[in-house]
Amino acid sequence: MEICAVVMAAGDSKRMKSAHSKVVHQVAGKPIIKWVSDSLCEAGCIDQVFIVGDKQEEIRNVLGESVAYIFQEQRLGTGHAVMQAAPYLEGRNGYTIVLPGDSPMVKDSTITSALDLIEKNDFAAVVFTAVAEDPTGYGRIIRDDNGNVNRIVEHRDATEEERQITEVNSSMYVFKTSLLLSVLGRLGAKNAQKEYYLTDTIELLINDGLSVGALVCDFDDTRGVNDRYQLMQASQIMNKRILRKHMLNGVQIMDENSTWIHSGVEIGMDTVILPGCSIIGNTRIGEGCLIGENTRLEGAEVGDGTEIDNSVASFCVIGKDCRIGPFSHIRPDTVIKSFVTIGAYVEIKNSVIDDYTRARHLTYIGDSTVGKNVNFGCGTVTCNYDGQDKVGCIIEDNVFIGGNSNILASVRLGKDSYIAAGSTITSDVPALGLGIGRSKQINKEEWVAKKNRLRGANYIQLDSKRSEV
Ligand code: UD1
Ligand code: CA
Repeated sequence: MEICAVVMAAGDSKRMKSAHSKVVHQVAGKPIIKWVSDSLCEAGCIDQVFIVGDKQEEIRNVLGESVAYIFQEQRLGTGHAVMQAAPYLEGRNGYTIVLPGDSPMVKDSTITSALDLIEKNDFAAVVFTAVAEDPTGYGRIIRDDNGNVNRIVEHRDATEEERQITEVNSSMYVFKTSLLLSVLGRLGAKNAQKEYYLTDTIELLINDGLSVGALVCDFDDTRGVNDRYQLMQASQIMNKRILRKHMLNGVQIMDENSTWIHSGVEIGMDTVILPGCSIIGNTRIGEGCLIGENTRLEGAEVGDGTEIDNSVASFCVIGKDCRIGPFSHIRPDTVIKSFVTIGAYVEIKNSVIDDYTRARHLTYIGDSTVGKNVNFGCGTVTCNYDGQDKVGCIIEDNVFIGGNSNILASVRLGKDSYIAAGSTITSDVPALGLGIGRSKQINKEEWVAKKNRLRGANYIQLDSKRSEV
């Protein structure tokens, strides 16, 4: 069966109030027009032509060269849009699927059902319809006494009686290609909008003695995105679809209302996602992980058994059985290997952290290479920026860094070395050595008494002065 698709995407997106074509706005991390194209591919239709208008570059950037494009110079209606594809369709057998470019919710299974319906019943066309709670603005499906589709009437052209009908046209169709071509040339524009309506093809086919079928779909599957509110609605519905898919695959998601997962995300079995997480981009999470609450993972790879609590990790790799957070920030190009612990207010950028290393509190590691089983004391800073260049440190296996230490750019801390707390380390420390980089402590005997600075006796007085402080 020869199948091709015409996608109408020349609209000017006025209601979106955006500098960009509405069909390149994202739903669950994927541009609207890509959802349409992907669904067609999944339904077995890779031969796709997109009718594009002024913002065609944006659409081309999303879909690339694997599909064809036709520029619609003047926007004279949906019928006119499909007429532009006539030269592309000429001489073909089989079926043409027509979809609007702004309908990201269309499922491949719906397309396949429509193809089955048209083939089994030898229909000239199949219209995808849906029952709308509020049909205002939509074309209405007019059926005859036997329940067969007769024609479609646009809201603006409908009588009061016809406007009571709640079955609406979704603007998605499958046509027998040769029959679509036989009626396109006969479309007129004698209607309220003075446009060439694609919907009029249905009546023309019926008048030619042919029959047209209807595939009644779930309204949500036919939703278009015309404005920001509909974009939010589509995003919510799509998100719930994605969450459901993960749950059916064995992922435990605690709250479908506060969890956002993009379409490109992979999550392993027995992983638990707590409320308030955004898992976006091409993030991959292994099995048996615990993510959240309130965690954002973007383009992150997370190994099995890792727990990440209240943290942000982007474009990085985190190995298996790590403990991250709460309040850790793992920035791009970081590779954290396995059994690593990263705790509160620790930021890591463009660094490699090897197995069993721990940085539990208040630490910055940038552009550095860190070995296995290193201990970062609270408040360790790799001073990777000299005001000109960014150069990190090399910290070898088993190094112990005491609290509140600064390790300057390009310093190497040798294997098994120790750094005394409060040090500023400006040159290499040899393996097995101790680096101390701080001024020596002086104690002045009886200083408090001599200076009459005893504080304990003034306790009550101090307390009464508190409001003045
Ligand atoms: C269309 C249908 C209506 C249906 C509704 C569903 C017609 C006449 N009406 O109305 O029955 O209920 O969709 O949402 O078909 N486009 C072009 N070139 C054009 C005109 C439109 O590419 O010259 C594209 C638009 O970008 C859009 C699609 O076609 O993606 C639909 O056009 P739109 O103007 O939104 O049609 P509706 O008035 O919504
Ligand atoms: Ca529309």
